[in-house]
Amino acid sequence: MSGISKSSRNVLNRYTAEHFTGDTLRDKIARAVCEAECLPRKEFYESWESAKRIRRQMRGGPILELAAGHGLLSAILIIMDDSSASAMCLDIKRPPSHDRVLAALVKHWPRLEGRVEFVEARLEDAEVLPESLLVSVHACGVLTDQVLDLAITHRTRVAVLPCCHDLRQCDTGGLAPWMDGPLAVDATRVAHLRQAGFRVQTALIPEEITPKNRLLLGWPE
Ligand SMILES: C[S@@+](CC[C@H](N)C(=O)[O-])C[C@H]1O[C@@H](n2cnc3c(N)ncnc32)[C@H](O)[C@@H]1O
Repeated sequence: MSGISKSSRNVLNRYTAEHFTGDTLRDKIARAVCEAECLPRKEFYESWESAKRIRRQMRGGPILELAAGHGLLSAILIIMDDSSASAMCLDIKRPPSHDRVLAALVKHWPRLEGRVEFVEARLEDAEVLPESLLVSVHACGVLTDQVLDLAITHRTRVAVLPCCHDLRQCDTGGLAPWMDGPLAVDATRVAHLRQAGFRVQTALIPEEITPKNRLLLGWPE
């Protein structure tokens, strides 16, 4: 793969599959997603890069993907590491891309069959199983805070890639005069998790995919 923009919102399709000819897991997954012909390139890269960093640190347990949209993150997490038996994708609306992407992936990874489910529900009504791994990519504004609060309430591991920081609703921790507002919100989220007794790690996915690239990982202690 070379020379294509990773932040493009163009849909991956049978023609763009020619950019992913390698023998790597990333290219294999990308080719399957190209067959589904429904996912913007940027969303593939966001899911892939987040999943890679999450799986370096967090294995096993049922996955609960919140504000999941297409839910590609869940599928990649299981493909990368079979130690999570199942994933539940939750979103208020099940997009058609979920079924299409999953069907394409199951064709190449039959072991995914029946292991990624989708529930149409509000985040506030999420059912959290013991030992869950809560994940969310680009849950807008305060939705990310709701994901973190769920993790705090249920004492579960959590990984979020926040976006659309709403400076009226999200807590800037009084840091806004010192730093960029969205950074103040994410720094305050780190402090909040630590205060709640979590060990926290921060990471970045490549900025060429999205400027909303801060990944926050937390473990209850
Ligand atoms: C920016 S999209 C992110 C989707 C996907 N995670 C991704 O990376 O492409 C935000 C998602 O949040 C969902 N959403 C909005 N409000 C929600 C709520 N109260 N509970 C659950 N999902 C919600 C939307 O339907 C949308 O799919």
